Amino acid sequence: MTAPAGIALSGLCKTFASHGQKVEALRDVSLNCPAGSFTALIGPSGCGKSTILRAALGLEPLDSGRVEIGGQAPQAATRAGVTGVAFQDAALLPWRTVAQNIALPLEVLGRAVGPEQGRIRDLIALVGLQGRETALPGELSGGMRQRVAIARALVSAPQVLFLDEPFGALDQILRRQMNIELQRIWAETGVTTLLVTHGIDEAVFLADRVAIMQAGPGRIVEVVEIPFARPRAASLFSDPEFHHQCDHIAGVLHGG
Ligand SMILES: Nc1ncnc2c1ncn2[C@@H]1O[C@H](COP(=O)(O)OP(=O)(O)OP(=O)(O)O)[C@@H](O)[C@H]1O
Ligand SMILES: [Mg+2]
Repeated sequence: MTAPAGIALSGLCKTFASHGQKVEALRDVSLNCPAGSFTALIGPSGCGKSTILRAALGLEPLDSGRVEIGGQAPQAATRAGVTGVAFQDAALLPWRTVAQNIALPLEVLGRAVGPEQGRIRDLIALVGLQGRETALPGELSGGMRQRVAIARALVSAPQVLFLDEPFGALDQILRRQMNIELQRIWAETGVTTLLVTHGIDEAVFLADRVAIMQAGPGRIVEVVEIPFARPRAASLFSDPEFHHQCDHIAGVLHGG
């Protein structure tokens, strides 16, 4: 993989007009994610998290502000396969096998799939789905489907990975297992990652920094640096300092 690109969001503003009402989804949102870093974005429902991700992918026209992915405009970065994305509901095509779902972005980018079979096999191993290559999504558990979605997001060898609530539908135990796996995948690939989550513990466990948002207007109110050494073990979830960080973020989220 080529050296990772950073994410630079500066002064993003976006107001939606729907049914005669204006919603200020983003007000002056700036966030800098250095190459190779892991950033979590947390905030209440409707505060603009997915709007930021869509803007960073070049899918959401902005009123003002600037997005740069490794110094490129977002549409150019997406077209070049620099960015990978996985959404909350996995959104796999039910009639395609695991391997065929993972290959999909290559087809969208107009790249030949044949020469990438080795890479697809490596990704299946990376997300721990060896032996399930020919399974259909309906034959997989929710956690397995999320892992397919993450492998698919990585298939273009992106330098930047956007994850929108990838584990939102999973139970707590599976979610923690997936957190540990995601940390491993991030460390092995070095991909610059921006994760949207509602889980404070997930954010603190995974991220180098947590950007906390509030709604009305959608904005970043605080960015908290997370100091824990890596790799982080599951025991961190019961560390008093970990709980101290989580309590601080909860306080900011709830306006404390
Ligand atoms: N296409 C749209 N048209 C009108 N309003 C929109 C549109 N997309 C988003 N909004 C509004 O913008 C605000 C931010 O939406 P967004 O989806 O970014 O929130 P979110 O933080 O991702 O929420 P959640 O945690 O529930 O996914 C919300 O008030 C939403 O209703
Ligand atoms: Mg959202």
